[in-house]
Amino acid sequence: NRRVRAGLLGLGTVGSGFIKALAQNGESIRQRTGCEIEIPYILVRNPSKERNVKVKPEQITTDPGVILSSTDIPVVIEVMGGIEPARTIILSALRAGKHVITANKELLAKHGPELLRAAEESGVQLLFEASVAGGIPVIRFLQGYLTANRVHEVSGILNGTTNYILTQMEQTGQSFAEVLAKAQELGYAEADPTSDVEGFDAAYKLAILTNLAYDVQVSPYEIPREGITSIQPLDLKWAREFGYVIKLIGRSRRTEAGIDVSVGPVLLPMSHPLARVNDVFNAVTISGDVVGDLTFIGKGAGEYPTASAVLEDLTALLRQPGQVLRSPNWETPVYPDVNQEAVR
Ligand code: NDP
Ligand code: HSE
Repeated sequence: NRRVRAGLLGLGTVGSGFIKALAQNGESIRQRTGCEIEIPYILVRNPSKERNVKVKPEQITTDPGVILSSTDIPVVIEVMGGIEPARTIILSALRAGKHVITANKELLAKHGPELLRAAEESGVQLLFEASVAGGIPVIRFLQGYLTANRVHEVSGILNGTTNYILTQMEQTGQSFAEVLAKAQELGYAEADPTSDVEGFDAAYKLAILTNLAYDVQVSPYEIPREGITSIQPLDLKWAREFGYVIKLIGRSRRTEAGIDVSVGPVLLPMSHPLARVNDVFNAVTISGDVVGDLTFIGKGAGEYPTASAVLEDLTALLRQPGQVLRSPNWETPVYPDVNQEAVR
């Protein structure tokens, strides 16, 4: 057996889920990959915080340098979130020749090209299955499988928190604030839930999917976006009376004029396949010119589904460290004239 040491950045919802899932399935992973995974260091902000996961005190650190400078740590897993210091740490890790696995959709959507270039220059992998739709392997599908098709549409429910809120408001009549608090308690929401409820999180994910699907570079700043904060329980009730549900939908489409992208609440007839995708579940439909429509449904947030995606990235690296996935090409801007700073 080979022993592989990975540095973990973050021990919140996703980091804790990762440690628990590894404890649960480490032995079967060892049997399948021939590798024993060790986590010598875990970066946190507050080392004295009470944790709901068992780790040794000597694993906890507040210094990313111990992970970056260790030559026997070939993999770094970033589940801390935010742009900085995550961006700088990931770039340093990639430049030091370490593979990086990240769940950070905001960072990928805003700085993906820079990170992917750094990975390519160092001949290492940057894997990000957990960044979109939690446990659904949609990145693997777009990046590792769908090469012979030309994709003409990607659409779906890309945010678990808002889908949970809309479902619970409709089914229980509870207020927006009450169900948002519950989504936060369940670990679905971002550290700042504005990102969920105003549609930013869905826009980050849509940017990542769009860039992979069409080999372009759409920045999240360029995506017209509306959240769910103005939707009242009464809107949901009336929609239901007319045979509709309201879902926050992200959609990108290849058109003659280019790529059309948007995120916003949509009325779906009850007969629509996504109308019954409820609570924390996400759904992604990818339409290819040869294969037709393929729809994936699964839990889109929360510690275990997200940890599953992170752990699958890690085991994919253990099996095939050289070439897990096609190198994404995110270098061609779709809207080259947009002044990004002016948009947001
Ligand atoms: P949490 O806020 O629960 O956890 C973040 C962790 O990172 C904490 O342990 C925190 O330390 C640590 N951390 C944050 N900033 C720093 C810093 N500057 N220095 C050192 N440590 C730091 O976040 P989540 O686990 O929910 O999310 C993590 C990432 O995964 C985000 O990018 C998020 O968007 C993404 N994601 C989350 C999903 C979910 O369902 N929650 C699903 C898919 C992706 P401390 O504990 O000491 O505060
Ligand atoms: N806050 C995100 C959501 C986490 O609710 O979908 C998963 O990316």
